[in-house]
Amino acid sequence: MAVIENSKVTVVGAGSVGSSAAYACLIRGSARHVALYDIATEKVEAEVLDLAHGTQFTGSSDIVGGSDVSVAEGSHVVVITAGAKQNPGQTRIELAEVNAGIIRSMMPQLLEVAPNAIYVLVTNPCDVLTVLAQEATDLPLERIFASGTVLDTSRLRWLLAQRAGVSTSSVHAYIVGEHGDTEFALWSAATIGTVPILDWRPADGSAPFTPGELDEIAVDVRDAAYKVIQGKGATNYAIGLSSARIVEAILNDEHAVMPVSTVLHDFHGVDGVALSVPSIVSATGAAPIRETSFSPKELELFRHSADALLKVADSLR
Ligand code: 2OP
Repeated sequence: MAVIENSKVTVVGAGSVGSSAAYACLIRGSARHVALYDIATEKVEAEVLDLAHGTQFTGSSDIVGGSDVSVAEGSHVVVITAGAKQNPGQTRIELAEVNAGIIRSMMPQLLEVAPNAIYVLVTNPCDVLTVLAQEATDLPLERIFASGTVLDTSRLRWLLAQRAGVSTSSVHAYIVGEHGDTEFALWSAATIGTVPILDWRPADGSAPFTPGELDEIAVDVRDAAYKVIQGKGATNYAIGLSSARIVEAILNDEHAVMPVSTVLHDFHGVDGVALSVPSIVSATGAAPIRETSFSPKELELFRHSADALLKVADSLR
């Protein structure tokens, strides 16, 4: 499939995450048309107005929106952010029951107006909701996936880049598994340029990374959202940018490698669970890269992540 002309993305949910995703799509020019949909009429109309008032200073993207689901009509991509958000100290999993209800009731209406769209779930717990939404809609596995650990991977790369003294784009490292408390870094494949992370010598003469330090960095990434939520009540900018970047990879048919979360089958012993692994993101959606290798310890962590999420999904079926 070629790059999509007159591309349209609809962001569902006009809370801080959805509004930031729409804003990021507008200022990055991720899609020609950006729509924002929420059932809260006053709120969504105000967000759309505020975004529209800035379009003199953006590119050729435009913004519409409202509380009628028809605003999503004809979308190529639908990004779902609607639902309850984490309060300070709350885990993503604790949102599962209430957000599963919201997603289940919303999907049929969205599919009616955007039957050919690629669906990207951002609402948490995004992995669990992806499995439930895929089962409820029977959409092909490629066409419904979660933003997963794209954000966590960006957090990881930023921390490593700062410490290593290189640009974020020169760090090649991934967080995989759950977008949540059982996620982990795929250290066995992490490099800076082509140099394995443990061999990297920072130019400022500071000590090389140690396995203990890498573990601490992974914990910082895992707990990053808790820290931001504690301080400002929500995370929104980085997830907004991550969402926009996924939208671009789809609409530009990039075949970009991103750790999004798809429902996995027969993947390193994991079945019927959505987890993030490096995947190819293109106009047809997302496909996990089956050749991704794991060290024995990483495989154990991956299966632990799968078991934890399977239990949550089962409790909601
Ligand atoms: C985040 O990681 C809360 O899932 C959201 O920022």
